[in-house]
Amino acid sequence: MVNTDYEHEKNWWNAKAVKEEIDMGDEQINRALRWREINKNLTSDITSVLEVGAATGAFSVPLAKRGYQVVHFDISDEMISIAKEKADKLKLDNISFQQGNSIDLSMYGDNSFDMVINMDGAVSFCGVDAEKAIKETIRVAGKKVIMTVSNRGNMLISLVKAVSWLKTDKFLPAAYSMLNDGLWHTYQFSENAKLVKGCTNDYLGPIKAFTLNELRSIFEVEGMRIDRLTSIGSLSNHCGKEFVDWIIKDTKLFDEFVEICDRYDKEICSDSIGSAQRAGIIIVASKPDKT
Ligand SMILES: C[S@@+](CC[C@H](N)C(=O)[O-])C[C@H]1O[C@@H](n2cnc3c(N)ncnc32)[C@H](O)[C@@H]1O
Repeated sequence: MVNTDYEHEKNWWNAKAVKEEIDMGDEQINRALRWREINKNLTSDITSVLEVGAATGAFSVPLAKRGYQVVHFDISDEMISIAKEKADKLKLDNISFQQGNSIDLSMYGDNSFDMVINMDGAVSFCGVDAEKAIKETIRVAGKKVIMTVSNRGNMLISLVKAVSWLKTDKFLPAAYSMLNDGLWHTYQFSENAKLVKGCTNDYLGPIKAFTLNELRSIFEVEGMRIDRLTSIGSLSNHCGKEFVDWIIKDTKLFDEFVEICDRYDKEICSDSIGSAQRAGIIIVASKPDKT
């Protein structure tokens, strides 16, 4: 498998920073679903929050605005500078910024933050190192972890369907790699480069996509109690792009649809494909109090 080159990753994320909050497809729905889960878990005993892979501050800045003591952590200095500008405009003095790599949070001690949020990137885009990033996130969390990671089921759909638009007579080796271990990288197989034409710098990855069971076992081995582990945003993906493009324009129906999506993930189909665009598995876990 291809190793993760973090200097390359940092430059790639830097190039993506200006586009980070331009939502495509069902991204807005996925973000709304994540906010619901975060708000539900912001109980009165939570005062400090570390957000790993916090990008341009879509979550970290509003949380600081609400009075939480926030550390915004990201590999990309361009993402950080956009977030910092937002915080400066709001004159927030309860948010600090740290550039670094999610696989090494050694600047923070065990249990340093009440809540650690790590969503949509700083795990799955570590590729072969994804498990290290999960363990570091868990280590520095005192009470709660909220994490989203890529959903192997959703990734597999694109890779299986690629056979028709690449007009190959065999399913791609990448489809089998996704099926077997959830690992994908632009440089993994020669055909992969064709799949990312048009992406930023014609590049994507490394990616580690998970199954629910895989994620569950990592959290359990680390001694965490799992409060929620489901796919997230599956209904919007099943409804298709045309429907989603329509519903996000209608503010009144949008909120009701998000509510239905949330219930679908929790009550109807909790192990499904997740969102089309953003990370499609969510885990919420608590660290048992050892005192
Ligand atoms: C798609 S954005 C997600 C932003 C935000 N967490 C959200 O959910 O909207 C992914 C972010 O993770 C950051 N990231 C990717 N790999 C990282 C790593 N190894 N360490 C820290 N940050 C990383 C990227 O720079 C980017 O800002």
